[in-house]
Amino acid sequence: MSTVVISGASKGIGKAAAAQFIEAGHLVFNLSRTPADIPGIKNVLIDLAGTQARQKVTAFADSLQPGVLHLVHNAARLTSETVRSDDIDNFRSVININVIAPQILNAALLPKMNAGSSIVYVGSTLSEKAVPNSFSYVVTKHAMIGMMRATCQDLAGSGIHTACVCPGFTNTEMLRAHVGDSQEILDSIAAGSTFGRLIEPTEIAGTICFVADNPVINGAIIHANLGQIEN
Ligand SMILES: NC(=O)c1ccc[n+]([C@@H]2O[C@H](COP(=O)([O-])OP(=O)(O)OC[C@H]3O[C@@H](n4cnc5c(N)ncnc54)[C@H](OP(=O)(O)O)[C@@H]3O)[C@@H](O)[C@H]2O)c1
Repeated sequence: MSTVVISGASKGIGKAAAAQFIEAGHLVFNLSRTPADIPGIKNVLIDLAGTQARQKVTAFADSLQPGVLHLVHNAARLTSETVRSDDIDNFRSVININVIAPQILNAALLPKMNAGSSIVYVGSTLSEKAVPNSFSYVVTKHAMIGMMRATCQDLAGSGIHTACVCPGFTNTEMLRAHVGDSQEILDSIAAGSTFGRLIEPTEIAGTICFVADNPVINGAIIHANLGQIEN
């Protein structure tokens, strides 16, 4: 049994991934502000963007024994603003959860990660392209690709592999909140995929679990988006 640490497994994609890792027999820790209601999961309640994040993550890491550990950087925030925004506090807070928190986790947990471990970044279609009105999200999701590539190079020879899974539009609270829960907008988003539907969180979860288990996928960007219709 190996250990899995997922940021933001209380809902959405992270929760679905946690359920699949538990099903596969792993010991799974969820790090989020609210607990995941999944039987068998170990909840560590923490605001990964908060001032105490580093201290709490370090204390959590100290409680673990070294071994095979899969770390999934999944927690994120999506806000709406443009390059004209002067709300620097919001920009900083999105960077905190989307970029700084993964590095706090990397630094604390890598000493516990033996060969066979993995670091899976959850990016987005917006890790490689931009749309209007999602400035901080586009910037930070692009950064995740850089973090993943640097992780791959820095961990050469360690037996630890890494990849960035980039989901397309997935049926979660994040997406619904972003579009104001409008069914009309959700339908038009679904129509932008070659399958004419939204992705289910379990589909991205399966991709994350596959990547964690397969070291041949190292330094890779994995598009998990049902195929997007290009206009
Ligand atoms: N849904 C999509 O269409 C889509 C598309 C592309 C990429 N993605 C990516 O997929 C990942 C998961 O997204 P999702 O749609 O499943 O989002 P979600 O349903 O909003 O879940 C986000 C998770 O992040 C946690 N989180 C947020 N802020 C946190 C903080 N400060 N400290 C600790 N945990 C925090 C939340 O837990 P608490 O609220 O309990 O703290 C929650 O478990 C994200 O990286 C997202 O960018 C999603």
